[in-house]
Amino acid sequence: MKQVKVLLEDKEIPKKWYNIVADLPTPMKPPLHPGTGQPVTHDDLAAIFPMNIIEQEASSQRWIDIPDEVLQKYLLWRPSPLYRAYNFEKLLNCPVKIYYKHEGVSPAGSHKPNAAIPMAYYNKVAGTKRIVTETGAGQWGSALAMATQMFGLECRVYMVKVSYEQKPYRRMMMNTWGAECLPSPSNLTQAGRNVLAEHPDSPGSLGIAISEAIEDAVNSKNTRYALGSVLNHVLLYQTIIGLEAQKQMEKIGIYPDVVMGCCGGGSNFAGLALPFTCDKIHGKKVKIVGAEPTSCPSMTKGPFAYDFGDLAKTTPLLPMYTLGHDYIPAPIHAGGLRYHGMAPIVSHLVKEKLVEARAYDQLKTFDAGVKWARTEGFIPAPETNHVIAAVVDEAMRAKEEGKEKVILFNWSGHGLVDLSAYDAYLSGKLEAYELPDSEIDRALNAIKDFPKP
Ligand SMILES: Cc1ncc(COP(=O)(O)O)c(C=O)c1O
Repeated sequence: MKQVKVLLEDKEIPKKWYNIVADLPTPMKPPLHPGTGQPVTHDDLAAIFPMNIIEQEASSQRWIDIPDEVLQKYLLWRPSPLYRAYNFEKLLNCPVKIYYKHEGVSPAGSHKPNAAIPMAYYNKVAGTKRIVTETGAGQWGSALAMATQMFGLECRVYMVKVSYEQKPYRRMMMNTWGAECLPSPSNLTQAGRNVLAEHPDSPGSLGIAISEAIEDAVNSKNTRYALGSVLNHVLLYQTIIGLEAQKQMEKIGIYPDVVMGCCGGGSNFAGLALPFTCDKIHGKKVKIVGAEPTSCPSMTKGPFAYDFGDLAKTTPLLPMYTLGHDYIPAPIHAGGLRYHGMAPIVSHLVKEKLVEARAYDQLKTFDAGVKWARTEGFIPAPETNHVIAAVVDEAMRAKEEGKEKVILFNWSGHGLVDLSAYDAYLSGKLEAYELPDSEIDRALNAIKDFPKP
């Protein structure tokens, strides 16, 4: 019998998160206040986040203690198993060993609760009564709905309208966990009303939903906003994935040659990759690869620039690879990962060449996901399919180069609530889609008056 899973006991769960800001060879550019052009202060952010989270967002302390209350909730499904994908390896027939961190075992079905639970906890400690957020396909919204319920907070989620209509099960999950879920753009905020006045049939976008959630949080009593990816504190909370993976790989005496993840806002990729990037900064030879869609290719086609995180320009200006805050994803794209910008930390690592970025079209990603489901059994989330496509690519490269490789990747979530996307793929309704160059001109135009990083 071959060992398929590497498990850690509850008591072996990492007790600290890892903050890569402490180890970066070159400093990151700060987020800027759009009015003054100066770095944002803690007070600038106080209307949307509680101070304990703001301090973590700005922290350069290498290790940050995970509170006992958060660890106790993590133990519901963590430490997550590390798997060896023997069946997929056999199908590929390449000289690779493939390991993956199974983040689909969380109650919400993805890595998102790793960040939702500490956010709900820190808000509770700070006296917040209600949290407002946005969600795309619904993974983040459902994770936050569960986490806020665990800590006795109210929760409202603005869900991108096209997903709200096409993916009712995620809304039902949010409702089951006690949260309110509304389609965005809505009539409840000025940001939503502005979009509807111009485009009554707008399918929505994450940029619009973020604007609505922030406006709601700023104008409501005892309410704060939560973002499910992109920001430093979100990536910090996700590092539990990579820290566990390091312990698990150590148990079997293997170190990966390649570490991979899919990239939307960057949080699951960073969660696995940042502890290994630390090793790389300190001399270890390891390739680190982020996979994104060709339809939303912020890292592979977008400029590195200061841009807003939302359409209504309510966030600070963030230094990141971006497709412009006014980006609206093509309705044909079923694979998720539709955010216009990439996390400043991930963007910085790409710019400094510590991380490589690759883009895959949705036919390739669903092809890889279906192959995975038919060999390994678990049906991946459409987002996760991007990294599986990248794994296939890397395995083929190993074959061409005649080199043996150990690949480790983040299996960020299951696709059981996304079967309509599989249905569209299997019935031939999806097309390969690449962002046209005219869209890059639009992005450059959207950021042309902002400070340059
Ligand atoms: C399963 C899954 N993987 C990956 C992502 C991408 O987000 P991030 O880049 O923040 O991990 C999402 C986002 O919704 C997701 O649901």
